[in-house]
Amino acid sequence: MYLSFAVLSMDISSLILVGSAVYLIVQLLRFIFADADFTLLWAAKLGNKPEDKLRGQVVWITGASSGIGEELAYQLAALGARLILSARRQNELERVKRTCLEHSTLQEKDILVLPLDLLDRASHEAKTATALQHFGNIDVLINNGGRTQRSLCLDTSMEVYQAIMDLNFLGTVSITKQVLPHMTSRGTGIVATVSSVVGLAGAPLATGYSASKHALQGFFNSLRTELTDYPGITISTVCPGPVQSQIVHNAFTEELHKAVSNAGDQEHKMPTARCVRLILVGLANHVKEMWIAQQPFLLFYYLWQYMPTLAWYATNVLGRKRVQNFKAGLDADSAYFSKPKTKTS
Ligand SMILES: NC(=O)c1ccc[n+]([C@@H]2O[C@H](COP(=O)([O-])OP(=O)(O)OC[C@H]3O[C@@H](n4cnc5c(N)ncnc54)[C@H](OP(=O)(O)O)[C@@H]3O)[C@@H](O)[C@H]2O)c1
Repeated sequence: MYLSFAVLSMDISSLILVGSAVYLIVQLLRFIFADADFTLLWAAKLGNKPEDKLRGQVVWITGASSGIGEELAYQLAALGARLILSARRQNELERVKRTCLEHSTLQEKDILVLPLDLLDRASHEAKTATALQHFGNIDVLINNGGRTQRSLCLDTSMEVYQAIMDLNFLGTVSITKQVLPHMTSRGTGIVATVSSVVGLAGAPLATGYSASKHALQGFFNSLRTELTDYPGITISTVCPGPVQSQIVHNAFTEELHKAVSNAGDQEHKMPTARCVRLILVGLANHVKEMWIAQQPFLLFYYLWQYMPTLAWYATNVLGRKRVQNFKAGLDADSAYFSKPKTKTS
């Protein structure tokens, strides 16, 4: 009897061992093919569908004239959300609106083109009033407008640092402060802000950009806890890794009005449509922080969260390569995948 108990317990322990090994292998495979954090991927699989939760909602998108904001407009229109489209270039917003109308059942009145400069904070109160007058309410604000940076700290003028903080941080805070009283008075709403992986970690050539996104993370993480008496209001931060868009083309450089010389190839980045679908899943499920990136970038978020010492090591190795490639005239984003060349011009 003792013998059969020993055999049985051995079987059970080896079963647990094999089960654990299989579980670990499955999780490892899931991680290798993941393009977002596990909470967001679970929400995509088992959570609310954006089609059910966002249809009919009034969504204000800043930076809607290009890239992620433009794609947000298309996907939200397709699922029946009503839209307020903002950015500086009115003609581009009108183009986005026309495309939305062509590919959805929305009517003309369901999309408001509201040109807006995030830097012109004095105008934000009136812009918000116009949006509220048109729709009567705002259910979701997506703070998406912003610009990145491609320049070394030692070469970058203070005017550039000022402009980055004014645009990415203060412009976003300003719009949020206009919309928030409306949401608190209704007791409901979502404020989602497109931060970045560099809102969580640092990256060379982006000292000011990373600082502005860290500032947003700090602001919205604090605001979230300040609003605990308003359980109907969700504060979400979205932290994408590299995504296909016009972001490099529009980046700040060493001097305020100097354009990027080499925007590089965006092919290796996450498709905009996939990033946006994940953002909408996050909104539909009230996810507080979304990590959206393909590998190997996703690994980076987890290292920063759980193994910072290793993360510092990896950041320094990759960062060094990024700077070397930048100095050689290559686009910094594609630099991880390319060999340094001699400077082109
Ligand atoms: N693409 C990526 O790899 C990536 C990764 C992480 C985070 N993000 C973030 O995603 C957001 C969207 O960027 P994107 O990648 O879609 O880049 P994008 O294609 O360059 O789009 C940027 C948008 O911001 C608007 N914008 C710029 N300056 C503005 C101003 N002063 N006032 C109002 N709107 C302004 C632009 O419109 P106008 O020029 O018409 O004003 C444009 O619609 C940004 O916050 C960016 O930091 C992007």
